[in-house]
Amino acid sequence: MRLTPISNLMAKPSFLPPFMFGLLFATFGVILSAKYSSITVDQSALLALKSHITHDPHNFLATNWSTSTSVCSWIGVTCGSRHHRVTALNLSSMDLTGTISSQLGNLSFLAWLDIHQNSFHGSLPIELTNLRRMKYLDFANNSINGEIPSWFGCFSKLQRLSLYLNNFIGVIPSTLGNLSKLEMLSLGGNQISGRIPNSLFKCKELKFLSLFNNSLDGRIPTEIGNLTLLEALSLGSNHLEGEIPSTIGNLTTLEAINLSVNNLSGEIPSNIGNLISLTDIDLSDNYLTVSSSYNS
Ligand SMILES: *[C@@H]1O[C@H](CO)[C@@H](O)[C@H](O)[C@H]1NC(C)=O
Ligand SMILES: *[C@@H]1O[C@H](CO)[C@@H](O)[C@H](O)[C@H]1NC(C)=O
Ligand SMILES: *[C@@H]1O[C@H](CO)[C@@H](O)[C@H](O)[C@H]1NC(C)=O
Ligand SMILES: *[C@@H]1O[C@H](CO)[C@@H](O)[C@H](O)[C@H]1NC(C)=O
Ligand SMILES: *[C@@H]1O[C@H](CO)[C@@H](O)[C@H](O)[C@H]1NC(C)=O
Ligand SMILES: *[C@@H]1O[C@H](CO)[C@@H](O)[C@H](O)[C@H]1NC(C)=O
Ligand SMILES: *[C@@H]1O[C@H](CO)[C@@H](O)[C@H](O)[C@H]1NC(C)=O
Ligand SMILES: *[C@@H]1O[C@H](CO)[C@@H](O)[C@H](O)[C@H]1NC(C)=O
Ligand SMILES: *[C@@H]1O[C@H](CO)[C@@H](O)[C@H](O)[C@H]1NC(C)=O
Ligand SMILES: *[C@@H]1O[C@H](CO)[C@@H](O)[C@H](O)[C@H]1NC(C)=O
Repeated sequence: MRLTPISNLMAKPSFLPPFMFGLLFATFGVILSAKYSSITVDQSALLALKSHITHDPHNFLATNWSTSTSVCSWIGVTCGSRHHRVTALNLSSMDLTGTISSQLGNLSFLAWLDIHQNSFHGSLPIELTNLRRMKYLDFANNSINGEIPSWFGCFSKLQRLSLYLNNFIGVIPSTLGNLSKLEMLSLGGNQISGRIPNSLFKCKELKFLSLFNNSLDGRIPTEIGNLTLLEALSLGSNHLEGEIPSTIGNLTTLEAINLSVNNLSGEIPSNIGNLISLTDIDLSDNYLTVSSSYNS
């Protein structure tokens, strides 16, 4: 086939209309099919999740999540106005029992996922790693088990992560240190063991850090002093030992600190007294002594 130079086409106006029409039609067809298939992927991902729910006592999803209506009108589902894709899924406090299906990883525009206070069990499927827009993950108060996935480190936009009150085991993955936007990390009430990784203190935006009621051991890293925006620190009921690092006195925005029920020893750093925002402090059930400089 001989390629017609552009200048030749321009010189023959009679050839233009059908050529343009064909181009327009092809473009429109591509847009139509892309749009159709995208929302279809979201719909089948949500239907797969529905099929993994074994108990829905209030029939929240049973009748409402019906293919006769748009997924964007389904209870707990929010779509973006621009792409008309699922951006948020909120199934919190619905008393649902089930597992988290791998197809959830196909909701590629999902940025908010809140399923706290249900009875989801099983481990988190690796397919969730595809959800690169994720900003907000709340799995609190379920029965999810397995290790905290190291691939959480891929959610570079994540601001809030709560795994509070589940059955997670193993260590805190050092990849969480990649979450440079993280403001809230709540891992309390699991069976997490090992040390608090130093990399965690690369998360400079952290305001709320709660690791209480686990089996963490080792010392509180001195790098904790790097979290200069921290407002609440809860490390109670673990097996932490050694001294409280004096760098804690750098955390001038700290409002609440709870290090109770650990094996901490030595003197309480006197510079804790410099923390003028501090209103709640619980250091009970440790082997701490009060610094003599408090008397001066
Ligand atoms: C599903 O629930 C939403 C939110 O409560 C409601 O607006 C919608 O009408 C319901 N759809 C059906 C088919 O019941
Ligand atoms: C989900 O819904 C609950 C109850 O309506 C609300 O408290 C919570 O903030 C919502 N989660 C998100 C991420 O908007
Ligand atoms: C969705 O996810 C599942 C499992 O991760 C996969 O097998 C399937 O091909 C994906 N795509 C669509 C369009 O459902
Ligand atoms: C956890 O969820 C259950 C209901 O599933 C509720 O009764 C309980 O109060 C919740 N616990 C916390 C600490 O929120
Ligand atoms: C995250 O951090 C680890 C080391 O903590 C690094 O090896 C990895 O390349 C980083 N990136 C991702 C996307 O996890
Ligand atoms: C903590 O801050 C110091 C001084 O700014 C820096 O050298 C160190 O790398 C930081 N540590 C982490 C884990 O971010
Ligand atoms: C800590 O966890 C244990 C079970 O591992 C539970 O019995 C206890 O109530 C929890 N304490 C708090 C304060 O949540
Ligand atoms: C500190 O945390 C422990 C659990 O680790 C809890 O029992 C206690 O009530 C907390 N103290 C305060 C003042 O909240
Ligand atoms: C403190 O250390 C002792 C001795 O190693 C150990 O028996 C005890 O269980 C520890 N307590 C806590 C709360 O970690
Ligand atoms: C944090 O506190 C320590 C000890 O109190 C001090 O030596 C250090 O310079 C402080 N670091 C920063 C980054 O402010």
